[in-house]
Amino acid sequence: MTTTRKTPEQLRSWRWYGRDELRSFGHRSRAKQSGWGAEDYVGKPIIGILNTWSEQNSCHMHLKLTADGVRRGILQAGGHPMEIPVLSAGEMLTKPTAMFHRNLLAMEAEEVLRGNPLDGAVLLGGCDKSTPGLLMGAFSMDIPVIYMPCGPMIKGNWRGETLGSGSDVWKYWDEKRAGNLSWEQWCEIEDGIARSPGHCMTMGTASTMTALAETLGLVIPGASSVPAVDAAHVRMAAAAGRQIVENAWNDLKPSKIVTERSFENAIAVDMALGGSTNAIVHLVAMAGRLGIKLPLEKFDEISRRIPLLANMRPAGKYLMDEFYVAGGLRALLNGMRDLLHTDVLTITGKTLGENVEGCEIYQPDVIRTPENPIQPDGGTAILRGNLCPDGAVIKHAAATPELCQHTGPALVFDSYPDMKAQIDNLDLDVTKDTVLILRNAGPVGAPGMPEWGQLPIPKKLILQGIRDMVRLSDCRMSGTSYGACALHIAPESAVGGPLALVKNGDLIELDVPNRKLHLHVSDEELAKRKAEWKPAPPRYQRGFAKLFVNHVTQANEGADFDFLQHHPEGVPEPEIY
Ligand code: FES
Repeated sequence: MTTTRKTPEQLRSWRWYGRDELRSFGHRSRAKQSGWGAEDYVGKPIIGILNTWSEQNSCHMHLKLTADGVRRGILQAGGHPMEIPVLSAGEMLTKPTAMFHRNLLAMEAEEVLRGNPLDGAVLLGGCDKSTPGLLMGAFSMDIPVIYMPCGPMIKGNWRGETLGSGSDVWKYWDEKRAGNLSWEQWCEIEDGIARSPGHCMTMGTASTMTALAETLGLVIPGASSVPAVDAAHVRMAAAAGRQIVENAWNDLKPSKIVTERSFENAIAVDMALGGSTNAIVHLVAMAGRLGIKLPLEKFDEISRRIPLLANMRPAGKYLMDEFYVAGGLRALLNGMRDLLHTDVLTITGKTLGENVEGCEIYQPDVIRTPENPIQPDGGTAILRGNLCPDGAVIKHAAATPELCQHTGPALVFDSYPDMKAQIDNLDLDVTKDTVLILRNAGPVGAPGMPEWGQLPIPKKLILQGIRDMVRLSDCRMSGTSYGACALHIAPESAVGGPLALVKNGDLIELDVPNRKLHLHVSDEELAKRKAEWKPAPPRYQRGFAKLFVNHVTQANEGADFDFLQHHPEGVPEPEIY
């Protein structure tokens, strides 16, 4: 890669600190208030460490140590660190869903990067929405950044049995509802399922999105697979600190690295990992910030030709500990290099192919090669039909195979509270063939597309031993979830999508091999129902929720805000008067 190295006067931070102006006096005097002399920072790249540490987010509780590692690397390379806290949006506590705050984090990250004297930044995140949120903001601002994932937590344990984040919660909750698990056993599982700092250690949304950030070329190679408590995590953080100083001098920013071909790699790796369905909505939103269109058909086309290679829960057997010691993402990428654009640039200044050259797979049952895949195609399919004119998503790799071609009568829940009030009713009119539907749970309806899509199996059926059935919704499901759940139905019911028109007893056909989701109701009858349909009155009169429902786009468009999409003229640099 040929680069033009900046002079100190060309650094962005020079505008704040380097000039002989009234405002620069103020900036420098307040730097002195912070204990910094000119020798600390003037003429050096100033690197933001955007830290999502928060006591609200247990996945990120070690990020102060990670930030110290980044700081060490920045200083070693001759830069100057400036740590700045940003919104954390922890997946567990943020309601109605952390997805509601993804765009808020993206706005904050963009404006923090723009409004401060930063020449580059290292972004610390990992818990689900923090990865797309931080990167969407960074793409829109477009200064050099490196993403530093927090790393997965170590695997869970209960009475000698391995527990996986999320996946085993859903599994054992059903057993508890069936009367097969005592309160004491349930509490023991609570003790053992989250044993260290770090994000969920299944191939859920966090593990998927950090791996895709690395595939996009934005992470120090290998860092996304390193467990949070492994000493290599902090060494990787220091490496990120050193690299970002170099990248600030060379102005190696996202628009120079991330292209449509990088996103094609990310989609391919998502399919090879059996990654979270959430990755689709996040990748579409991230690409949109760079003016790159990712139609859902691209995901389906890539899914049909990329084999499932990672034997990871919930679609497979292993957890991130095992993935790391099996060689991690670099080994997977090297093993499937013939299926990737290996010539794309990364934050190392080298290509993706150069970064993973020679990386070996040490545990071939954990990470397969295209010659010996778990299944010949990818883990996620895109559905079309009269029920989802703008698409729907299903992770069929984690569904009961027999349910992937199924026709059954609908049982409709109008909202999550409606579902919750009915699901344990032993008189519910439901059989194993019923298709459960949840509506008013999409980007506008919920709002924020919460992870409600793995609807609970009705208690009546749980007691009969049923553990999976076809479920449809306009929301998302956790990447740690499993089952025959078609999600992200667009347009959503709250804006009058066909899901709003379904009535109990209507026949619905799911046909994953043929990518079809069809409501067996005539067009005339649907037109009649549509003419009678009325939107709910607005729920929000003020605040972020009002902004959200007025501007969020549909799932197939990434559920980003319409006014944050890429604009060729961008946003001007702030004036410094
Ligand atoms: Fe943070 Fe799952 S709760 S990654």
